[in-house]
Amino acid sequence: MNFSLTEEQQMIRKTARDFAINELAPRVVERDEKKIWPREAIKKMGELGFMGMMTSTEWDGGGMDVVSYALAMEEIARVDASASVVMSVNNSLVCYLLEKFGSDFQKEKYLKPLASGKKIGAYSLSEPQSGSDASNMRTVAKKDSDHYVVSGTKNWVTNGINSDIVMLFAMTETGVGHKGISCFIVEKGWDGFEAGKPEDKLGIRASDTSELYFDNVKIPVENLVGGEGIGFKIALTTLDGGRIGIASQALGIAQASLDASISYSKERIQFGKPISENQGIQFKLADMAMNIETARLLIHKAAWAKQNGLDYGHLASMAKVYTSEAAMKASTDCVQIHGGYGYIRESGVERLMRDAKITQIYEGTSEIQRLVIARALLK
Ligand code: CAA
Repeated sequence: MNFSLTEEQQMIRKTARDFAINELAPRVVERDEKKIWPREAIKKMGELGFMGMMTSTEWDGGGMDVVSYALAMEEIARVDASASVVMSVNNSLVCYLLEKFGSDFQKEKYLKPLASGKKIGAYSLSEPQSGSDASNMRTVAKKDSDHYVVSGTKNWVTNGINSDIVMLFAMTETGVGHKGISCFIVEKGWDGFEAGKPEDKLGIRASDTSELYFDNVKIPVENLVGGEGIGFKIALTTLDGGRIGIASQALGIAQASLDASISYSKERIQFGKPISENQGIQFKLADMAMNIETARLLIHKAAWAKQNGLDYGHLASMAKVYTSEAAMKASTDCVQIHGGYGYIRESGVERLMRDAKITQIYEGTSEIQRLVIARALLK
């Protein structure tokens, strides 16, 4: 067994770390406060090869391995969780889906600009009545000669407003459950397709989340991905990988919480000595470090398993549920260590707590992750 990173992986982590510190950190507080989408930063991340890291170079991606992706995601999220979710959705839910299930036509037309960061993608599965129960969707796609006509409402779509291309899941046959779901590529600007207003969120406020409305939108048949009726399998296969990305995002938030807790507790003097000298603080730091180390191992194992073509869905779920809970705990303790200062915006640490919460919810709640893990144990 070898726990060391390759030279390439170390270089990718350093590039992501330097980028995050130099390009993301300076305005991260302002973007969060004013809900400003990180357009310039995302463009530069595309130029660095971070928007299609695992996509092969044949399709203009970075051709990097899954562990490298996890490392870069962690570093970006350590500074700016909002930018990291834009990156995660584009990489794991859009580029991965297209490379694995798309036709050569679709890869040429859509994957290339997405993997090189020239265009931004979104993944649209959820609906108002179908969140965890993802197959219970009502959006329909009826075939009419050389196109499908789609109508319905989707919600909770990350990049819903700022994306150019959307991976859409809709029912091509009703009454047959998940076997009626198909996956389509939809372009922004097509007649009848509109994004709703940005949701006003607790955290990851610089990323956009919105509803998407489809009113008799015509989608050409060549934009059906993989064939009718296999959309749910495409959705779940893709989410398995997405969960490694979100776990890495949560890890970045947890690591940032530990970093801030160490430096503040060494500076803050109470009762004549730094608060870091109190065992009550030291135990919090030790627990954070222990949880972070465990989380990183789980994530890298899931990433390694995915890279090597092994069964990894349950490992990705373990990584996601463990790390998102560790991030919530670490960021809450970080605010506690900062005391009253931690509760105000200026400290920058209340944002970590707000950003951590969503990692327990999106791309499958902690409860759904436990269900996936238990099903793997019992099958
Ligand atoms: N990969 C491939 N296929 C899978 C699979 C997987 N991981 N898991 C299940 N399947 C297959 C099953 O084999 C089954 O196929 P057959 O009928 O042919 O055997 C089919 O899918 C249905 O499986 P289930 O009966 O297990 O499905 P279910 O309805 O009980 O749901 C679930 C399973 C795990 C609960 C799933 O619905 C789920 O993951 N829900 C959470 C959805 C989710 O994560 N949503 C997030 C949306 S994206 C987002 O957050 C927004 C964003 O922009 C970031």
